[in-house]
Amino acid sequence: MISLNIEKTLGFISKENVFAYEAQVKAAQEALENGTGKGNDFLGWLHLPSSITKEHLADLKATAQVLRENCEAVVVAGIGGSYLGARAVIEALSNSFAWLQDKKSGPVILYAGHNIGEDYLYELTEYLKDKKFGVINISKSGTTTETALAFRLLKKQCEDQRGKEMAKKVIVAVTDAKKGAARVTADNEGYKSFIIPDNVGGRFSVLTPVGLLPIAVAGFDIEKLVAGAAAMEKTCGKDVPFAENPAAIYAATRNELYKNGKKIEILVNFNPKLHYVSEWWKQLYGESEGKENKGIFPASVDFSTDLHSMGQWIQEGERTIYETVISVEKTQYSLQVPSDEANLDGLNFLAGKHVDEVNKMAELGTQLAHVDGGVPNMRIVIPALNEESLGGLLYFFEKACGISGYLLGVNPFNQPGVEAYKKNMFALLNKPGYEEESKAIQARL
Ligand code: PA5
Repeated sequence: MISLNIEKTLGFISKENVFAYEAQVKAAQEALENGTGKGNDFLGWLHLPSSITKEHLADLKATAQVLRENCEAVVVAGIGGSYLGARAVIEALSNSFAWLQDKKSGPVILYAGHNIGEDYLYELTEYLKDKKFGVINISKSGTTTETALAFRLLKKQCEDQRGKEMAKKVIVAVTDAKKGAARVTADNEGYKSFIIPDNVGGRFSVLTPVGLLPIAVAGFDIEKLVAGAAAMEKTCGKDVPFAENPAAIYAATRNELYKNGKKIEILVNFNPKLHYVSEWWKQLYGESEGKENKGIFPASVDFSTDLHSMGQWIQEGERTIYETVISVEKTQYSLQVPSDEANLDGLNFLAGKHVDEVNKMAELGTQLAHVDGGVPNMRIVIPALNEESLGGLLYFFEKACGISGYLLGVNPFNQPGVEAYKKNMFALLNKPGYEEESKAIQARL
């Protein structure tokens, strides 16, 4: 189970002021439960963990097994909410060097559809040339340009290399039940498909097939992931008292910090495997809260790596930041620092210590230094990097995000701002239907 500690924010804000949010948090929790708040048509994530059935998980696992048995590589095609959750969990649980190992325990998981890099796509298609590969095409709208473009390339390559029949077996769609090009293609081609519920937005969709299918294909236990999330659903439930509810405390603390001029939240890890959890978290909070000219800017760093780059700014730059550290209690493996007779590097004082003991002292030392430097610090501790902990962590952040968005007074479940670039891009590319916009934008160039 995860724990949250806000003690090191209390020199900057008061506990009293954090607890003053109790009534507002209760109102936010009730608005979520009763569907009476802003964006109430996108609350399908709220009780998702406890409502996922064994049959649904079995269906996902069976499809994952087909891909595992028939593919050396599986490309997950998706962007934003249709990509980051799966990658966050897969990278957190995978061996850091998995894909360089000769003996692989399952298909290599690759990603596409999250950029429009010609070189990236060229190199991907080159790599896949002599591989038995499959594709999971993930798009709720089914019309996202980045994903559709990558899928067009991958579908053709898969069919050319593996034949139409095998392609049908190893291409899976995760999309809307009825609408969008991805649905039409899946139905026409006879692909196995999974539905993204209407009432779950992209950034809250990691526990739908959007996240669960790729995670299962990567060989991880989706039952444990969902069980961890379901336990957290209880821990953060609406009737759990404020003082015992980590989602309530996190939401209240970050809003109080924001009110006191702390405009940037930096999510910190001391484990490189958590890099994509931070990417997922940035989307969750950035897209949910950054609107109506307000919202905390979510940033992230990987320590101790970034202590040697961003560490300077964090220690002594503008004092508008606070940190939230995700700390992993136990490592999966054990590695001790060896003794060295010559001791030329002077590290014999560490001989016999586990590498993680050094890492933990870096963590503690950094916390104290940053607090001394004027940076409030929250700490989320998870027991280990495993499916249960990650399921719990993801749900904790989702629930806190819903509450926090309501405390801020915005609709945390829409994203009107992401359309602006698409409109311009389509106008610049002369997409049919954008004739007026094309003329207007050409006149501005
Ligand atoms: O959270 C969101 O809504 C976005 O990040 C979307 O998930 C992203 O744009 C992908 O959209 P789609 O799943 O429709 O392809």
